[in-house]
Amino acid sequence: MVKICGIGAGYVGGPTMAVIALKCPSIEVAVVDISHSRISAWNSQKLPIYEPGLEEVVKQCRGKNLLFSTDVEKHVHEADIIFVSVNTPTKIRGLGAGKAADLTYWESAARMIADVSKSNKIVVEKSTVPVRTAEAIEKILAHNSKGIKYQILSNPEFLSEGTAIQDLLKPDRVLIGGNEEPEGQKAILKLKSVYANWVPEDRIITTNLWSAELSKLADNAFMAQRISSINAMSALCEATGAEVSQVSNVLCKNTKLGPKYLNASVGFGGSCFQKDILNLVYICESNGLMEVANYWKEVIKVNDYQKSRFVNKVVTSMFNTVSGKKIAILGFAFKKDTSDTRKTPAIDVCKGLLGDNACLSIYDPRVTEDQIQKDLSMDGVEWDHPIHLQPTSSTTVKQVNVVGDAYEATKDAHGICILTEWDEFKTIDYQRVFDNMQKPAFIFDGRNILNVDKLREIGFIVYSIGRPLDQWLKNTPQQA
Ligand code: NAI
Repeated sequence: MVKICGIGAGYVGGPTMAVIALKCPSIEVAVVDISHSRISAWNSQKLPIYEPGLEEVVKQCRGKNLLFSTDVEKHVHEADIIFVSVNTPTKIRGLGAGKAADLTYWESAARMIADVSKSNKIVVEKSTVPVRTAEAIEKILAHNSKGIKYQILSNPEFLSEGTAIQDLLKPDRVLIGGNEEPEGQKAILKLKSVYANWVPEDRIITTNLWSAELSKLADNAFMAQRISSINAMSALCEATGAEVSQVSNVLCKNTKLGPKYLNASVGFGGSCFQKDILNLVYICESNGLMEVANYWKEVIKVNDYQKSRFVNKVVTSMFNTVSGKKIAILGFAFKKDTSDTRKTPAIDVCKGLLGDNACLSIYDPRVTEDQIQKDLSMDGVEWDHPIHLQPTSSTTVKQVNVVGDAYEATKDAHGICILTEWDEFKTIDYQRVFDNMQKPAFIFDGRNILNVDKLREIGFIVYSIGRPLDQWLKNTPQQA
């Protein structure tokens, strides 16, 4: 029986390994992590992450050919193939701080593999890493090899949170990069045979190591760039009377562009886009490609601009101050169908409003109060163009209430900000909400999910990104 060990039981490692176990009953899959709390949650009824369909997959395989353990060394030692899905955050100090990827976790995983291995292994980079990381990993492994042979493959993950299980069950592509020597090609074939259990062969792309590593960074950079492009257009739409959804619909129908990632919003979030673009920027700078680095930096700058533009719109619309006013925040996760709040635009928007002394009443269907309070009281790690939206941590906690439903959040509020596109926000009884709010009642739709005409009929003053402004907003001096 082939044995696989997945190091890192997070948003990528957990679902990815669970789907491999589901689709390959003859393979034994052990998912290991240094975090005891994460592993015990994976072994419990309440999994550590929310992802539609995940619970069913885990329940089907756990205790059969899927296990979760903190005994990292034992399972690494026993495995033939080791997937490394540890976190690779942006460095917060030292050389490249604020941009370069922090490979501390990866390096410690590699050293541990070298320490405990007694047989040849295929080591798979699942984490997103800088291009040429495999070279560094190989040095660590070779240096401590005791005659053991390692083949390093790059197999970056393309799942999106919120649709991870569907993405894994029916991937549009699986990318495997390996070295071009016969041993490397043999390793590629071995990993390919795992995926071939459920992925059609024409969707499995094989490349050299560096193309695979760089493709993942390029992939995220291109998706984020599309979002920033449509968000930049949204500002121009507001200034000219064009409507961003109409513009994006025209672009969607262009077969040369395709329909995805063209929804204007308050900005992109999630643990990957910003981190991976910064990483790309750092790699470009390290290679002396300053123009290329600056080009990609602009994608993040526009994202920051979009968030501060939204905050400015809220404040200027509400008589230039939100001090002491109750603002309802609907949605905190960085997108719908996930509980993940890493780099969610809600953090910057909330901090911006708190900076103007607003009192926030926050509701998200999947994010816990603990998580929200933690996110709002931490100083974000800044890259080299911070968006100056941070209040002090002590104010944050006092002015924030996390509540259990949208009606409670909006009761007596002066304004509502929609910050995540959860489906349930589309079907709220907005007449009831309006009746219980302070007047004039404002809605700022940061995800363009609401029916603006209906809301205006009810009596709301509505701001929806990239759509023609209400008379009210037109007559208010706008700062952004
Ligand atoms: P995560 O933070 O949710 O999970 C990483 C896990 O690795 C943590 O549970 C941590 O305790 C564990 N870990 C760290 N060092 C370890 C070690 N030495 N031994 C054992 N466990 C260790 O991170 P996430 O979101 O799963 O991301 C992992 C990687 O996948 C990152 O490189 C990310 O860029 C990439 N990625 C993430 C996607 C996402 O949607 N979250 C999508 C595609 C790629």
